[in-house]
Amino acid sequence: MNSPLVYLNGDFLPLDQARVPVLDRGFLFGDGVYEVIPAYAGHLFRLDQHLDRLRDSLAAIRMSPPLSHAQWRELLQRLIQGRSGDLGIYLQVTRGADSKRDHEIPQGLSPTLFAMATPITPPSPEQAELGISCITLDDIRWAHCNVKAVTLLANVLLKQQAIDEGSQEAILIRDGQAIEGSTSNLFIVKDGLIITPPKGPQLLPGITRDLVLELAAEAGLPYAEASIGFDELQNADEIWMTSSTKEVMAVTRLNGQPFGNGQPGPIWRQITQLYQACKERLRLGAETC
Ligand code: PDD
Repeated sequence: MNSPLVYLNGDFLPLDQARVPVLDRGFLFGDGVYEVIPAYAGHLFRLDQHLDRLRDSLAAIRMSPPLSHAQWRELLQRLIQGRSGDLGIYLQVTRGADSKRDHEIPQGLSPTLFAMATPITPPSPEQAELGISCITLDDIRWAHCNVKAVTLLANVLLKQQAIDEGSQEAILIRDGQAIEGSTSNLFIVKDGLIITPPKGPQLLPGITRDLVLELAAEAGLPYAEASIGFDELQNADEIWMTSSTKEVMAVTRLNGQPFGNGQPGPIWRQITQLYQACKERLRLGAETC
């Protein structure tokens, strides 16, 4: 099989030929930020929102945007040109390669820009109907989880612990509050009200999260951005986890027990239909959805 073309520092080249110096600060310190952007039938999903978040992540780590939104758009469109099927674009910006290893931020480095598009398989309707199993774990991450930093060791360990315990995702608990998943945002439904924790340094401002709130507002479904206590999580009518690649997944098992009746709830079904309709509009050529 041919190695797919990736973008690295101005060039499009086969993945197996892409090389980064070992003194790159992304490699040495995890000093960089990233995005994961779906593309459906050649259409980039919520690109402006992803690029706005990238700009915010870069600002938070004291980097200026290496490219404008228009330049990113052109580059990413070229990356997916002629590729069929659903793709996930991984885009990473690190502070670049230095001539030595030193914590202090060097001046005048050229950032390392990398992007690749790989096939993704969003959950099928049958998989989505099964829902996912989650466990709750202490949130061991740092104090700036709103930054989409490549420094993901805590997330990796939390995710693996969930998998080791037969689940797909960990719901992270900090000071008695349920915050988000190791790779996804958290929603609950209680008495018809959709609740997700408010944005802030404790969680990633998910693009899917925002879309779900927009869809709820358009459909007249009541929602609130409010903290979710551990008890509220356990006593919720529905729990969902959202991300660009997994979309909106209902939690049907929690901490080794069936959650509720062990099936996705009615409001999840409504939101999922709206989400799929939005994707379909994009596929058919809508500017955005
Ligand atoms: N992760 N919270 C965390 C900690 C995440 O890592 C992600 C996504 C989300 C959901 O964000 P969005 O809706 O913008 O995808 C929330 C991506 C998919 C990843 O790291 O691969």
